[in-house]
Amino acid sequence: VTLALSSLAVGAGGVGALDVAAGRALFDHAWVFAPSSLHGQSGLGPLYDARACGSCHANAGPGRIVARLGDARGEPDPVYGEQIQDSAAPGVAPEAVVSLGWKDVAGARTATARLMDLGYGPLAPTTHVSLRRAPGLDGVGLLDAVTDEEILSRSDPDDRDGDGISGRPAWLVDGKGGRSLGRWGWKASQPTLAAQAAVALRRDIGVSTSDYPEAWGDCTPAQRACRQGAAAMRGRAEASDEARDLIVAYLRSLRAPAGKGADGAGEAVFTRAGCAACHATLTTREGAPVRAYTDLLLHDMGPGLDDGVGEGSAAPAEWRTAPLWSLRAELDAGGLLHDGRARSITEAVAWHGGEAARSRARFMALSARDRAALETFLLGH
Ligand code: HEC
Ligand code: HEC
Repeated sequence: VTLALSSLAVGAGGVGALDVAAGRALFDHAWVFAPSSLHGQSGLGPLYDARACGSCHANAGPGRIVARLGDARGEPDPVYGEQIQDSAAPGVAPEAVVSLGWKDVAGARTATARLMDLGYGPLAPTTHVSLRRAPGLDGVGLLDAVTDEEILSRSDPDDRDGDGISGRPAWLVDGKGGRSLGRWGWKASQPTLAAQAAVALRRDIGVSTSDYPEAWGDCTPAQRACRQGAAAMRGRAEASDEARDLIVAYLRSLRAPAGKGADGAGEAVFTRAGCAACHATLTTREGAPVRAYTDLLLHDMGPGLDDGVGEGSAAPAEWRTAPLWSLRAELDAGGLLHDGRARSITEAVAWHGGEAARSRARFMALSARDRAALETFLLGH
C-alpha cells in the first residue's frame, strides 16, 4: 500500500471516507514476500493462493474457486492443512495444481477437482476436498448490522413448529468458555467481518495478524521448508490490527445490490413455495429490512450438497442459507451454490434436499408462469 497508514486517523470520529478509501487500497493491495523494506506491506506466503483480496473478489464481486480440505469432524488435513495453496515463495514447494472440471450426470452438473503435482505426498484418506467459490461481497455491511438476537429469533433447531425446517444457529466455541455466533462463509464459521478478514489473510494470502500471529499461515509442521522460511518473522503481525480494521471499514461500506423492486407476484410465489422460510428478510438493529433473503442459519441440505467437511459448527451436509440478492452477478461469474455447479435458479433448487426437500417439490410443481414470475423476482429483468 502506498498510503502512510500511520498518518490516517482511525477510530475516534467513526469511519470516514478516508478509512474506506484506505481499506479499499488494502483490499486490492498485492502483498509481497517478507522481508521487504516496508513493514506492514509484506508477508505474503510462504504458501498462498493469491496476493490480494481483490484477485479473488474483483471489485468485491464473486470470483475464484478454492479447494478447502477437511474431514467430517472438521479436522484439517495433517499435511496440507485447511486449504490447497497453489503458489509458494521461492524454495518452498507449492501444494498442488488444482484442475477444476465439471461432470454431467443425467443433466445435473457437479464440480470436480483433480489435484495434480501434489508437493507433499498424498492427502490423508479421511480428507475431503470441498470446492468453494468466492461469493460477491456487496451488501455484507447490511448483513453485519443484523443483531444476533434477530438471527436467533428465527432459529428452531428441534423443529418445534413441525414445518420440516430447523434452522440451527452456528455457535462457535472459543476454547476459553465463550461462544459467538458464526455468520460469514458458506458454513457460517466466522463470527465477524474482522475474523473473516483475518482468516482470509492467513489462509488465502499467508499474512499473519494478531489473531493468527504465526507467519507461516496454513503450513503444517510436516511442511518444513515453509515453517523454517517463515520462522524469522515469528511473533510480528504482518498486517496490523489497524490495516485489518480498515479492510473491514471498506467491507462495511459496500452497498447492497440494487433492489428487486416491487414484484408482488414473484415474491408471493417465492413465499408460497416455502423459499422464504430460509431465504428470509431480516431487519437491522435500526429496524431496516435487509432483502438479502437469508436467515444466516445453518440447514441440513441433504446428501446432494454434502461435501464431507465439517467446519465451525456445521456438519458436512449443513450450509448457511445463501443470500439471493446478487444472483445475476453470481450466475455471470460462473454459477450458483457453494462450488458454482448450478447454471440456473432451477438447477440450484434441484440440488436442495434435506430440510429444503419439501420446498423443492413445491418449486418443481409450479406452473411455467409462476416459475417465470419467481425467476423474474430473483434475477430482476
Ligand atoms: C484465494 C481467493 C480468496 C482471497 C485471496 C480472498 N478471499 Fe474472501 N472468500 C473466498 C472464498 C472461497 C470464500 C468462501 C469461503 C468459505 O466459506 O469457504 C470467501 C469468503 C469471504 C467473505 C464472506 C462473505 C459471506 O457472505 O459470508 C468475506 C467477507 C471475504 N471473503 C473477504 C475477504 C477479504 C477481506 C480478503 C482479503 C483479506 C479475502 N476475502 C481474500 C476467496 C478468497
Ligand atoms: C431449508 C432451507 C432452504 C429452503 C427452504 C430453500 N433454500 Fe435455497 N438455499 C439454502 C441453502 C442452505 C443454500 C446454500 C447451499 C449451498 O451453496 O450448498 C441455498 C442456495 C440457494 C441458491 C443459490 C444461491 C447462490 O448464490 O449460490 C438459490 C438460487 C436458492 N437457494 C433458491 C431457493 C428457492 C427458489 C427456494 C424455494 C423454492 C429455496 N432456495 C428454498 C437453503 C434453503
